[in-house]
Amino acid sequence: MADVTFNILRTDPDSGRKPCFQKFTVPDDGTGLTVLDGLNYILENLDGSLAFRSSCRSAVCGSCAMHINGRHRLACNTQVALFKTPEVTIRPLAHVEVEKDLCVNMDKFWEKYEHVTPYLIPGSPPPEKERIQSQEDREELDVVIDCIQCASCYSACPVTLSSNEYLGPAALLKIDRFVRDIRDAAHNQRLDKADGPYGAWRCHSVFACQCCPKELDPPRSIAYVKRRLMRRRLLGGE
Ligand code: FES
Repeated sequence: MADVTFNILRTDPDSGRKPCFQKFTVPDDGTGLTVLDGLNYILENLDGSLAFRSSCRSAVCGSCAMHINGRHRLACNTQVALFKTPEVTIRPLAHVEVEKDLCVNMDKFWEKYEHVTPYLIPGSPPPEKERIQSQEDREELDVVIDCIQCASCYSACPVTLSSNEYLGPAALLKIDRFVRDIRDAAHNQRLDKADGPYGAWRCHSVFACQCCPKELDPPRSIAYVKRRLMRRRLLGGE
């Protein structure tokens, strides 16, 4: 059994202390210790005041996104064996207010996400059974459908830091997801939102959002939305 050092940026705004790193030693029995396992070990055995979020433990809910050894990852599907050193350095998501330790305030992120109506708006009453998609139409969504709203891309984007109103990569990716969907009847309204002063054109193409733990590609989505906007301007309509 080897030991792994967890080096965690601790923050407690209520205490008035400055944020600082704290080290914990976690035993690794070599059976696939994940970062989330390590955090749970610390919480249960070393420091019950450590704050972090998790739920599904299966890379589905997006709640355990954090900055781990230099990049955004999900704690639940990141094994410490991935790293060459027996030390794991963990910070909370950046560009969002830290509530405590690894818990951040996601209100702004959700506000922008809600703004882009992240659900299907069909143009006809519900059918008896289902809204049919062809195989090809469904495959068109493969590159955008797996977003779990972990906010890694949002946190990595420097424009979200400098422009509080910028929709950000996750919301723009969601616009992409629905303007690709032939069942959706609100393409124009969605593109109007992307065309606003804080929409797709505010993206500076820094590509920092290319860090999705689910391997989605927000820069490609933003470029796609820009192309749709240009096509609408040049050819009119949708
Ligand atoms: S706990 Fe749900 S994504 Fe990690």
